[in-house]
Amino acid sequence: MGGLEPAAAARQALIAAAAAVRVHAYAPYSGFRVGAAVLAEGGAVAAGANVENASYPVGICAEQAAVAAAVAAGHRRLQALAVVSGEDPPAAPCGACRQMLAEFGDPRIYLAVAGETEPREAYWLHELLPRAFGPADLERKR
Ligand code: THU
Repeated sequence: MGGLEPAAAARQALIAAAAAVRVHAYAPYSGFRVGAAVLAEGGAVAAGANVENASYPVGICAEQAAVAAAVAAGHRRLQALAVVSGEDPPAAPCGACRQMLAEFGDPRIYLAVAGETEPREAYWLHELLPRAFGPADLERKR
């Protein structure tokens, strides 16, 4: 499953967008601030940060916020995601976020995982979520 890696400039722009939005993370409970940005087909970028809640399970991850922003802007085909956590080693998207991403792209969504700003690791979504459950699994029921 070969994929299309975004150009270096696009990867850097995506990481920069994730780092910029991370400033707005609302993480008073965990102190773990995350920013994420997704690149849609056609070149649009949408960003999101984690938003925690006093009722802990209500909080959402940065990746989920970024995907929701992209969909709200009319983009349903995502090519890449960058996540910036400021950690070393950097945090990779959680399982729920991998599943959410799988809905809006093929298994070759490119994931850049960065510390503060530097890309540290990169994966294809199918490496982090093999044999994903997705829209095709429901086709027979529709
Ligand atoms: N978090 C994310 O935003 N993305 C991830 O992939 C992992 C975890 C957030 C959720 C919560 O606000 C904080 O990090 C600690 O789990």
